[in-house]
Amino acid sequence: MIKSIGSNKIKTAVFISGTGSNLKNLIKFSKQKNSPISIDYILSNKRDAKGLSFGKIFKIKKKVFDFTKHSTAEKNIISELKINDINLICLAGFMKVLSANFIKKFKHKIINIHPSLLPDYRGLNTHKRAIKNKEKYSGCTVHFVNSKLDSGKIILQKKVRIKKNETFKSLEERVLIQEHKLYPKAILKIFTSP
Ligand code: GRF
Repeated sequence: MIKSIGSNKIKTAVFISGTGSNLKNLIKFSKQKNSPISIDYILSNKRDAKGLSFGKIFKIKKKVFDFTKHSTAEKNIISELKINDINLICLAGFMKVLSANFIKKFKHKIINIHPSLLPDYRGLNTHKRAIKNKEKYSGCTVHFVNSKLDSGKIILQKKVRIKKNETFKSLEERVLIQEHKLYPKAILKIFTSP
């Protein structure tokens, strides 16, 4: 895994598809002195992703890629990330599955946050499924991305107890609060542990 060199922060791209609350949180974290990363690039597959507004607010380069042709999009992204010297990719609510070829190009340099206690509840609608199955806990996981969906090596997890009468919405909100704590912690763990 890459390490930050001296005072130079690791140039990071965040991939989003929606609201971007994790993106905003990572930008704030990146501005702290102890953060090993700087956010230099925001990428979305959706033109109307709300999170793109953080590009303007925080003066970070942002770009939308059309995934109609997945392989072309990935090819363009790879060259764009190389040009911009990006060394880490943080997926944050990015709803496209990256190909094995793309992942190989950024080996050990792509991480993701997922709203469940992996390996349980890979994929979509994690909270709905956890409530339906009467689980005691849900939570979130930060993991390295490999070529299988939500299956790479786990970096950190946080459990969240599912309350009585919990709704999908309330659970989502409570887990999101934990996601905002977990993602920076996981990044610190990767780059500062010996
Ligand atoms: C988060 O719950 C994340 O774990 C999931 O999608 C949601 C994105 O939220 N993959 P936001 O766009 O960061 O607000």
